[in-house]
Amino acid sequence: MKRDSFEISAKSYNSNSIIQKCVAKELVSHIDFDVEKILELGAGTGEVIKNINSHFSKYIAIDLSPTMLSQHPKAKNIELICGDFEKLDYLLLEHDLLISSSSLQWAQNMEKILKEIDLRSKKFLISIFTSYTFSSLHRFLGVKSPIRSKEEIEKILKDNSIDCQLYTKRYSLKFDNTKEMFRYLKKSGVNREKVLDFKDAKRAILCLESNDLEFEVIFLIKK
Ligand SMILES: C[S@@+](CC[C@H](N)C(=O)[O-])C[C@H]1O[C@@H](n2cnc3c(N)ncnc32)[C@H](O)[C@@H]1O
Repeated sequence: MKRDSFEISAKSYNSNSIIQKCVAKELVSHIDFDVEKILELGAGTGEVIKNINSHFSKYIAIDLSPTMLSQHPKAKNIELICGDFEKLDYLLLEHDLLISSSSLQWAQNMEKILKEIDLRSKKFLISIFTSYTFSSLHRFLGVKSPIRSKEEIEKILKDNSIDCQLYTKRYSLKFDNTKEMFRYLKKSGVNREKVLDFKDAKRAILCLESNDLEFEVIFLIKK
């Protein structure tokens, strides 16, 4: 699995992550309780923490990409760890709330990590992109989405008796033209699995009739 796409696009991530920003805001809006220690998986440039207004005493932010983390807010009570969230030891770090926004779709073993989160975290707020994201583009190019469908994620939850509130939300981004859309796709870090070979796909994408991209996110809430 290619693990460098966020590293390559990390510098332009902030200006190209409009949907992730909306998703992080929505996720954080579920914090209507007191929290002391927060553990975040796939924290990136800190979209989640930027939206938290309530007090916390400790925040641990884990991300694989040093360039993403270098843009994360810093403070005495914020610990940044550059590491792989699939090393499940991180879940043993003391926390009373686990958050992960727009990151777990990249887990190689989502079942394992969701099971472990359910076991270790009393409260969690998680958002995961589903395979409906870019579905018309994938259909047009004849490629399969690299990420799991909503149904696959629901099955993981059911099979492992993970009891949480869940709902899905769809978003769309409209571009002035396909050139703009292509630029966004290149810069946003969404091509982690290199499912789109940009050199080959460019000509095809520029012929697309629609300039819209669709996204779908599943929210898992336990509080
Ligand atoms: C789409 S960004 C989301 C960042 C942030 N949570 C937000 O809402 O903007 C996904 C992040 O997950 C990180 N990531 C992906 N796989 C990871 C892994 N196995 N371990 C740690 N971080 C990972 C990437 O480096 C990237 O920063």
